Amino acid sequence: MHEKVAIVTGGNSGIGIWTVIGLARLGFRVVMVSRTQERGDIALPLAKEHAQSDKIDLMLAELGSLKSICAFADSFKRRYDRLDVLVNNAAVMPEHRRVTEDGYEEQFAVNHLAYFALTAHLLDWLKASAPSRIVNVSSQLHASGRIEWDDLQSAHHPQAYNSRQVYCNTKLMNVLFTNELARQLDGSNVTANALHPGVIDTNLSRERRRGGYVTLNPNAEHGAATSLYVATSPALENVTGRYFDNSRERESSAPARDMDAAKRLWKITADLMP
Ligand SMILES: NC(=O)c1ccc[n+]([C@@H]2O[C@H](COP(=O)([O-])OP(=O)(O)OC[C@H]3O[C@@H](n4cnc5c(N)ncnc54)[C@H](OP(=O)(O)O)[C@@H]3O)[C@@H](O)[C@H]2O)c1
Repeated sequence: MHEKVAIVTGGNSGIGIWTVIGLARLGFRVVMVSRTQERGDIALPLAKEHAQSDKIDLMLAELGSLKSICAFADSFKRRYDRLDVLVNNAAVMPEHRRVTEDGYEEQFAVNHLAYFALTAHLLDWLKASAPSRIVNVSSQLHASGRIEWDDLQSAHHPQAYNSRQVYCNTKLMNVLFTNELARQLDGSNVTANALHPGVIDTNLSRERRRGGYVTLNPNAEHGAATSLYVATSPALENVTGRYFDNSRERESSAPARDMDAAKRLWKITADLMP
């Protein structure tokens, strides 16, 4: 029996580190993706200790950079010969509008573009390892999101940048992306589902509350439960294009189920790929 391989982005913190631990406990070889060596080096031994497993590897990727995402995917493919589960989990919620090295607004880049780009780069590995799963961590806040088609970079009124609204918008993009991805993958034995992990005290809102950075918060473990369920439950083997909350299938918002919007967003995003 081959060893199953999983990737968790944002695996060095918050819900992600508990997702790494949970998958390792279930016997996966898990690639913890961190944006910095320093935070990864702190998180890796903690995750191994809590999982009681050595099958966790650290790899680096700056998800605000399409070049770095591509480099990560290439080096992943050199190291591993299969990919069973991809958990797109990393996200940001900055206080002020910031722009990535590629020139994109940071939440659009990390919360949406990176999900799309990383999945696109790894899709051949996922297909070759099928049955396999793509798990996109969204939020119940997707229901407050809207797609500003003429201002996806929130650039028109930078002084009035509303971080929370932009966050909601990108979480809506996660569900739209998942739905179109699932449609395109129909029949491939690769599933794609989105989820809300619960409301968990993590580093996500630290710029607002000015709290300190915490690598592993014992109280955040339950935040990984739905990601682990969607990534591994045998009951979901052929389930795709769905939205989960509290390890149960739920209906996403009406705008999130708009397949015309999903296709439109896909086309715009695909055109941004180098
Ligand atoms: N916490 C909640 O209540 C809640 C509710 C609904 C949905 N969610 C979703 O849950 C997921 C995980 O969030 P969390 O709450 O666990 O937050 P978190 O503790 O801040 O974790 C986010 C992770 O993403 C990483 N990340 C951010 N920007 C990155 C970049 N440019 N390149 C590479 N990695 C980057 C962070 O790295 P650093 O450690 O270096 O910053 C961190 O590892 C997100 O998708 C979020 O939208 C959370």
